[in-house]
Amino acid sequence: MAMNELRTQVAVVGGGPAGSLLAYLLRLEGIDSVVIERRSRDYVLGRVRAGVIEHGTAQLLRDVGLGERMDAEGFVHDGVNLAFGGSLLRIDFRGLIDRYVVIYGQTQLQRDLYDALDRAEIPLLDESDDVTLDGIEGTEPTVTFRRHGETHTIRCDYVAGCDGVHGVTPQYIPGSLRRTYERIYPFVWVGVLSPTPPVNDELIYANHETGFALCSMRNEHLSRYYVQGSADDSVDDWPDDRFWETLSLRLPPDVAETLVTAPSIDKIVTPLRSFVAEPMSFGRLYLAGDAAHIVPPTGAKGLNLAISDVYYLSRALAERYRTGSEEALQSYSDRALSRVWKAVRFSWWMTQLMHRFPGVHDDFDRKIQRTELEYLAGSEHARRAMAENYAGMPL
Ligand code: APR
Ligand code: PHB
Repeated sequence: MAMNELRTQVAVVGGGPAGSLLAYLLRLEGIDSVVIERRSRDYVLGRVRAGVIEHGTAQLLRDVGLGERMDAEGFVHDGVNLAFGGSLLRIDFRGLIDRYVVIYGQTQLQRDLYDALDRAEIPLLDESDDVTLDGIEGTEPTVTFRRHGETHTIRCDYVAGCDGVHGVTPQYIPGSLRRTYERIYPFVWVGVLSPTPPVNDELIYANHETGFALCSMRNEHLSRYYVQGSADDSVDDWPDDRFWETLSLRLPPDVAETLVTAPSIDKIVTPLRSFVAEPMSFGRLYLAGDAAHIVPPTGAKGLNLAISDVYYLSRALAERYRTGSEEALQSYSDRALSRVWKAVRFSWWMTQLMHRFPGVHDDFDRKIQRTELEYLAGSEHARRAMAENYAGMPL
């Protein structure tokens, strides 16, 4: 039994981007941690997720020595395009605010993070199930879990809940202290990965009377496209032919003409939701990333928020171990939430602006939506505000 008892400073539950980056940042501060992940390493490394890194997030990754492959394999984009009324409106980040984003898949970043954990010899206990927490109101919490048929217990000073949208750690914040905020959007995104060159050299977010579409990419030979579908759609409702027809229809004709299609190599249906749970901490448990908040993918903020949360949390833990003061840990939740809500607002705004809301929007709402797009087209001030939010609020 003693063999299955470990002691560490911070037990990190969840080995997605939030958990693995946190463990790495803590190591840079000389703080030990163990990462407990439910899935297998290969499963986590194979997940296809979004791929837009904000300006400040990219800088942070470089500053901590994780920027090398991002800079070699990623693409700097100086702007993004909104399609409506048959043409493109470019939001020129570089010209408006001297910022950019980096197109680099979360899948690639996850690989970089696991490589960094391996190099730093930080334990990643994958295939760990049935995580339970004890004693988070005291000074020596424990994390218990099953791994390969055996029960393990980790004693620690702090627990980081980085276990994503279906995680268990948020349940340890008492309901009486917890307040949740939610908005469900009445549609889904259908996404495909296509082994073809991207239709455009920058992203295109399209508002069409029949619904939203997005043209994104992974590299010169690999494109990522999305179209808005109905709330109850499944992957089977979207054979490739229907997907490509719908996408073409929703793009400006001159763009659609250059679209290269092929049999898709990955297809997903994803619901859209805004969700925030406050506070992000209780006792010695601190939540970060999707475990605490969800944004719809419009605006690609999910990964960036996971990174800003763990950046704040690593600073606060570093201060605690350096000075003994828990002050920064006590303000972690407020500090993280203040940035989270700005991204929640922006993702909600972009979702409202770009989608068709069947049964919700009437003619008035559609006029307002169209007017907002025309306002962006006509006002540099409006474009600058959008650029600032898309390229990312400061950390
Ligand atoms: N025990 C251990 N690990 C768990 C448990 C559990 N009970 N439940 C979930 N996990 C793991 C998941 O398998 C996943 O690998 O926690 C990890 C959470 O990772 P993500 O879902 O990637 O969330 P996060 O690290 O917060 O990153 C947020 O990921 O979902 C995207 O769009 C989102 O880009 C955003 C980013
Ligand atoms: C993606 O490339 O998968 C992607 C890009 C931008 C988004 C969402 C997803 O807003």
